[in-house]
Amino acid sequence: MMNRVKLGILISGSGSNLQSIIDNIEAGTLSAEIKIVISNVGDAYGLTRAKKHGLKTEVIRHENFTSREAFDARLVEVLKENDVELVVLAGFMRVITSTFLQAFPNRIMNIHPALLPSFPGVHVWQKAIDYGVKFSGCTVHFVDQGTDTGPIIIQSVVPVLDDDDADTLAARILRQEHKIYPRAIQLYAEGRLEIQGRIVKVHPKDRSLDSESLTNPRL
Ligand code: GRF
Repeated sequence: MMNRVKLGILISGSGSNLQSIIDNIEAGTLSAEIKIVISNVGDAYGLTRAKKHGLKTEVIRHENFTSREAFDARLVEVLKENDVELVVLAGFMRVITSTFLQAFPNRIMNIHPALLPSFPGVHVWQKAIDYGVKFSGCTVHFVDQGTDTGPIIIQSVVPVLDDDDADTLAARILRQEHKIYPRAIQLYAEGRLEIQGRIVKVHPKDRSLDSESLTNPRL
């Protein structure tokens, strides 16, 4: 029986990535268990999604804390109380501090709606359109001390079309996000991710695979 990785999922909004993780767990394609969903926004729709699936939720409002560190310390406390192994940032719109990073070293993932290192930060769909790139996409990465700078686990590419606006591009990218985030978490659950500096090695599922499979890990 595959290890079911214990997740703590942090959201601020719609929670469609949370939904895709829930759906993959329920479909048996992701060996994980959601221990808690935490939102810093009280009326985030993702909380409704979580409750519909009987998941434990908690609202921790950042504005109730006097510093980022104090907010993060409370997040860490709740995540630890709930026995979380891997923290999944899914549309969590807060920058995290070293307090958080040190509590979960190499155990925080994020999804970003651009092909990093291009377009870190916010409003990235419009930035991609304004820059004139022909392709954009999404990136799942481990979180480090920078903003959207951590080691990359999986990326997916989509075309940027001539008549795209930020909304149409965001929707096309989001469909890919829903595929690669559960996939990245599954690779973690299978123990196949190894961080070497800023490179994430993806080990094959079966180490007895032939050499071609070793050089082309099946993502
Ligand atoms: C996604 O585009 C994600 O890449 C970004 O925030 C958005 C969250 O969407 N970090 P949702 O809340 O998962 O629907």
